[in-house]
Amino acid sequence: MQNDKKITIQDIVSLKGRRKITMLTAYDYPLASLIDKAGVDIILVGDSVANVVLGLDSTTQVGMTEMIHHAKAVTRAVKHALVIGDMPYESYQINPDESVKNAHRFIQEANCDVVKLEWFERCLDVTRKIIQTGIAVMGHIGLTPQTADKLGGFKVQGKDAEAASRLIEQATELERLGCFSLVLECVPDKIAEIITKKLKIPTIGIGAGPNCDGQVLVTHDLIGLFERFTPKFVKRYINISSLISEAIEKYKDEVIQGKFPAQEHSFRIKEEELKKLK
Ligand code: KIV
Repeated sequence: MQNDKKITIQDIVSLKGRRKITMLTAYDYPLASLIDKAGVDIILVGDSVANVVLGLDSTTQVGMTEMIHHAKAVTRAVKHALVIGDMPYESYQINPDESVKNAHRFIQEANCDVVKLEWFERCLDVTRKIIQTGIAVMGHIGLTPQTADKLGGFKVQGKDAEAASRLIEQATELERLGCFSLVLECVPDKIAEIITKKLKIPTIGIGAGPNCDGQVLVTHDLIGLFERFTPKFVKRYINISSLISEAIEKYKDEVIQGKFPAQEHSFRIKEEELKKLK
């Protein structure tokens, strides 16, 4: 359960080796509030908002305007969790020179605590520049959805020795530059374990097995509110969609049958006022 003490980057780093770190996505006030009240350590305002909320095909289709809008709603709700603004593709990969300005927008305009960015060919340069200006960065390696086309699609990464050793190198470099934590997405469990043991900073896995220092899922996947596809690594804890559909159908039927609204949902005027009117 929640306590209102705000989690810091140091708190997250010091959890490594002591207990698993919990992280979930949120894009709006109500879900962020529930996740925060449950005591989850980190809330990611992920660019996965593109797929699960905005009905788009690719995370590259959201930009800073959408991300700042959603991040503001999340930070209004959160008292405890560390909030991460997920840098969208356009904010650092199209023109890396824009990355520092955009990272600062997440902190100053949207009140996020830190930012996350995905691995790409100029990742080290961009990460270094953002950290040098005082913003903490979470890295993201393995399957990086923003550049999935360059990785052969949405596939597990690091499956042969050469590819695995590239991932280990990326992780080591990002730690050396000062990232406070790393997301490992869709990598074999043994490779995630090697990286986790090698690094001093915590690893947060998604489709990376049980040996990471923490786990993240897209909340809409775990509650069954996103039905277009479900990756193998997702565990669905509830099917909220069917509960919502049931409620909506009941409402529709009751309106058609004149059962809603009932007396208790209606407002009254005094009889004498009504007489005067007549
Ligand atoms: O955008 C997102 O939801 C993410 C997580 C899958 C880590 O980057």
